[in-house]
Amino acid sequence: AEPTGTVMSVFGCGYLGAVHAAAMVAVGHTVIGIEPNAQRRENLAEGRTPFFEPGFEELLGDAIATGRLRFTDDPAAAAEATIHFLCVGTPQTAGQQKADLSYLEAAFTGLLPHLKAGDVIAGKSTVPANTAGLLNERVVEHGSGARLVWNPEFLREGYAIEDTLRPERVVIGVGDDAEDRAAGERLAAAYAGLETDGPLIVTDLVTAELAKVASNAYLATKISFINAMAELCDVAGADVSDLADIMGADSRIGRKFLNAGIGFGGGCLPKDIRAFMHRAGELGAADTLFFLREVDRINLQRREAVVELATVMLGGDLSGKRVTVLGAAFKPDSDDIRDSPSLAIAAALHGAGAHVRVTDPHAIRNAREASPQLDYVDDIEKACTEAELVVLLTEWRQFRDLDPAATGELVSGRKIIDGRNVLDAAAWRAAGWEYRCLGRPRLG
Ligand code: UGA
Repeated sequence: AEPTGTVMSVFGCGYLGAVHAAAMVAVGHTVIGIEPNAQRRENLAEGRTPFFEPGFEELLGDAIATGRLRFTDDPAAAAEATIHFLCVGTPQTAGQQKADLSYLEAAFTGLLPHLKAGDVIAGKSTVPANTAGLLNERVVEHGSGARLVWNPEFLREGYAIEDTLRPERVVIGVGDDAEDRAAGERLAAAYAGLETDGPLIVTDLVTAELAKVASNAYLATKISFINAMAELCDVAGADVSDLADIMGADSRIGRKFLNAGIGFGGGCLPKDIRAFMHRAGELGAADTLFFLREVDRINLQRREAVVELATVMLGGDLSGKRVTVLGAAFKPDSDDIRDSPSLAIAAALHGAGAHVRVTDPHAIRNAREASPQLDYVDDIEKACTEAELVVLLTEWRQFRDLDPAATGELVSGRKIIDGRNVLDAAAWRAAGWEYRCLGRPRLG
């Protein structure tokens, strides 16, 4: 891409912000990352990635090498920029279902005094419906001549670089008047260097906000749907993987996100459906999203199902049993353990008295911080040694490729739960394993 040379600020250099900042440099812009956390700033400035994401280290290194990426904690540095991205987190409020908007508010009020005519603020954080409209009103009232647009981000962890540089769609929500529309056009022009065949959809602010949570709610529903089918398969004697293949071959349904297993986790899907239900309640439409409660319940039920299965396989009592858990991250190619079903199951097994040993290629450091009561082992072989039960919970390539015969030599009981339906059941059986999984009763 030809450098288009816009100077941009990125407020919040966490997962979303750091990737977005480096990607904008890659398409020719100059970026000032505004990040209050000194450690994070220093790491990023020196090209050390604060999280594991395939391809990010290289993208960040290249961005730094251009000299067009720098980091500061001072929001006044944003005065140089004309497009300002709000990329801060909106986590679940402790003890409540709603989104915590305090980081967003801090970034916004930090930026406000430094805005000038023609500036565009592009909100990317996931927010409750109608947040952007209120922020834009405050921008207009402030009188700088800047405008706020909403530009939700749909990137997936593990594919963040690809999703940012080649998004399947770009959504820009704008306010009602000509200046709002012009601000949207300025943002679209800045994205001209992205290599995407996907559509650019310009809409109103609240539709743009909703596009994000509605998409995540739909994905969560799709996963819980197939997991409900898995439960039904277990009682009816059917096979959920075949069922998913058959349903997925219908192009109206599609095979993606129909993998039954231990359910969804991460920093987005679980908190987004809860915040969405909460916001619907505030809007007087709680009933409309009641089905998402069921989506959440089915999802959490999967975790219990694994603990129950483990208990049955170990003779009805977990206390003192040596259980090896393969995977702590909420999904492969990520070191993120936020709301990880894998880690939650490991903790539940431990809570029931088992000696739980956890291994993961990249998430051990984060997992140890979140669940210090568990034993962590870097090496897969060491982790499996003398296990009475092995439980595969995050489908990393390393675990999928395990050799049943060699692994069988290490353990003291050849029993395995395949929580993601990714292993070759016949091969494991042939090597003398009791293989069990969810939703495929004829296999296990
Ligand atoms: C999700 C969305 O997919 C992104 O589009 C969105 O931008 C992002 O949230 C966000 O809001 O920031 P992500 O959290 O990275 O992305 O992870 P997903 O790939 O959606 O997976 C979520 C969870 O669902 C994982 O725990 C995964 O194991 C599980 N999953 C996924 C299944 O159990 N079955 C499936 O078939 C697919």
